[in-house]
Amino acid sequence: MNNYKFALVGCGRISGKHIDAINEIENASLAAVCDIDISKAKLVADKTGNINYYRTYDEMLQNEDIDIVNILTPSGMHAEHTIDIVKKYKKHIVVEKPMALKLEDADEMIKVCDANSVRLFVVKQNRYNLPVQKLREAVESGSFGKLVMGSVRVRWCRPQEYYDRDHWRGTWELDGGVITNQASHHIDLLEWMLGEPVSVMAKTNTYLADIEVDDTAAAIISFENGSMGIVEATTATRPKDLEGSLSILGENGSVVIGGFAVNKMETWNFKGLSETESNSIIEKYGEMPPNVYGFGHQRYLEHVIDCIENNKQALVDGFEGRKSLELINAMYESAETGKEVFLRFHPHKSKLGKR
Ligand SMILES: NC(=O)c1ccc[n+]([C@@H]2O[C@H](COP(=O)([O-])OP(=O)(O)OC[C@H]3O[C@@H](n4cnc5c(N)ncnc54)[C@H](O)[C@@H]3O)[C@@H](O)[C@H]2O)c1
Repeated sequence: MNNYKFALVGCGRISGKHIDAINEIENASLAAVCDIDISKAKLVADKTGNINYYRTYDEMLQNEDIDIVNILTPSGMHAEHTIDIVKKYKKHIVVEKPMALKLEDADEMIKVCDANSVRLFVVKQNRYNLPVQKLREAVESGSFGKLVMGSVRVRWCRPQEYYDRDHWRGTWELDGGVITNQASHHIDLLEWMLGEPVSVMAKTNTYLADIEVDDTAAAIISFENGSMGIVEATTATRPKDLEGSLSILGENGSVVIGGFAVNKMETWNFKGLSETESNSIIEKYGEMPPNVYGFGHQRYLEHVIDCIENNKQALVDGFEGRKSLELINAMYESAETGKEVFLRFHPHKSKLGKR
C-alpha cells in the first residue's frame, strides 16, 4: 500500500477538517502546508507537529515531495490556484467546494487536469454522510417508484461578524451568496438524488447582512424525470443554526434527512415497511455531527486515495462538480432576469465570479 503525501494550500477555517481527516487515514500523511498569511501556516504546522510550512505554494511544491494538493483558498481563487499548480507541478488536486465560481473557470480546470494527466476531485463530503448514502441506495434501487419532489432547506445563522472576518466573504468576485457558499452541498445532493435539471426559477434577497450577495434564496427546479425540486436557503436564521436538511418524496415512500448538516435520518417511511423496521433505520443512520461541516471529509479523502491507487472513477470529479455550479449560476441568472432559465445554458446576467 502506497503512502500518499498531502499538502494544503490555505490554512483557514476548513483546514482543520482536512488535517484531522488526513491524520486518521492509514496510508496518508500531511507533508506540508502554506498560506500567504504565514502566521496561519505556522499555527497549523505547530499544532500538527513535524511538518514544514511556507508562505507560497511555489516555495512549498519546489521543496517538498507531494502527491496530492488540497486547495483550501477562497472560492473565487480555486481555478487560478488549481490551474497554476497543475501546469507547473502536475499534482493531483482536491479542491474545496464550490470548485470555481464561473463555468468557464471550471471548464479550464477540467481541461488542464486532463491535459496534464492528473486527477481532479471536488469536495462534496456530505455525499458520504451515512443517511445520505442510505437514501442514495433507495433512489438507485427504485424503492421510491415515481419520484415526486425533493426539497433542501439550509437555515443557518451567519451574523455580520462572519462576513466581516475575511475580505472575500459575501462578495460576488470571490464567494457568492448563500446559494453558492452554504447551500452548494445541498443543491449537489438534490441533483444527485433527482438527476438532470431541466429548468430553474429563483429569487434571492439580502435581509440581515450588509453584503453585496444574497443571504436568502428560494428556487423551484424541474428535473428531467418529471420531479420537482425546492431549494430554501438562508444565512439569516437567528439566533443560531436551525437545520440543513434534504427530503425526497416518491409514490412509494418519503425520506427526510435533517440535523445541521444532512446527517440525521429523521423519517424513513416506505409502503409495506413496519414502524419497527422504519425506526431501526432511523436509529442506525442517526449520526449527529459536532458542527455544520459534518463527518464526511475523512470518507471523502479515503475515496480520493482509492481512486488514485486503484484507477477508479471519482464520485465527484470536475464534470460532476461542474453540474451543481451550472445550476447555481442558472439560479442567479433567473434571480437577475426574473425568468425561468433552461439548462444547459451560458450565463449572461449571473454576477457570480465577477467584480
Ligand atoms: N466542505 C465544506 O463543508 C466547507 C466548509 C467551509 C469552507 N469550505 C470552502 O473552503 C474554502 C476556504 O474556506 P475557509 O472558510 O477555510 O476560508 P478562510 O478565509 O478561513 O481560509 C482561506 C485561506 O486561504 C489563504 N490564501 C489565500 N490565497 C492564498 C494563496 N495564494 N496561497 C496560500 N494561501 C492562500 C488565506 O490567507 C486564508 O487563510 C472556500 O472555498 C469554502 O467554500 C468548504
